Amino acid sequence: MRDFDQFDRLIMGLDDALKTAFRVTAAPDRPYPAEGLDAEALTERDRRHAAGLMRVDHAGEVAAQALYRGQEWIGRSESVRAAMRRAAAEENDHLAWCERRLAELDARPSLLGPVWYLGSFCIGSCAGLFGDRWSLGFVAETERQVVRHLESHLRGLPEEDRRSRAVLEQMRDDEGRHATAAIESGGEKLPEAVKMLMALASRVMTTTAYWV
Ligand SMILES: [Fe+2]
Ligand SMILES: [Fe+2]
Repeated sequence: MRDFDQFDRLIMGLDDALKTAFRVTAAPDRPYPAEGLDAEALTERDRRHAAGLMRVDHAGEVAAQALYRGQEWIGRSESVRAAMRRAAAEENDHLAWCERRLAELDARPSLLGPVWYLGSFCIGSCAGLFGDRWSLGFVAETERQVVRHLESHLRGLPEEDRRSRAVLEQMRDDEGRHATAAIESGGEKLPEAVKMLMALASRVMTTTAYWV
């Protein structure tokens, strides 16, 4: 593949940002995890709750796209940039699945998508500034926090909502693999204070996106 320069990457990043912010999601590479599961009858209260949780997870995937693109933009070595590009492509499956599940639940994604994208792009670029090892450490910690968060959503989903469950279980397994891959590629362990700051930032997003 040709080596893109900083300007190419900025244009590609802008292209992705606009597509993600305006929800022109590319078709997923892998099949929908809920395919073949019966559509369950949810009470109105359960449907709303499931939709709120899926909206949070969708917002998280918008943020994941931006984090990876931000790091890819700044990343120094071509191998790390390529790894970020690959991960962002895998995250696109998650984005498309969440979008589909939200539509099935008769709900819409967070209205603040562009805000989540822009904020995460800046955070990703900042992480990239510290160099590839820290950047990979940041990816690993982000993915670990996402796994914990998805596990809490899996516990919180209405019992009958097997379709949302199938989507979130597949995502949790993928994010766990992303964390391992980042560590194996040489990611540093982040200081506790940074981890806490990251958890705080994600708390703001998850609390807001449940409602808006
Ligand atoms: Fe994801
Ligand atoms: Fe991931």
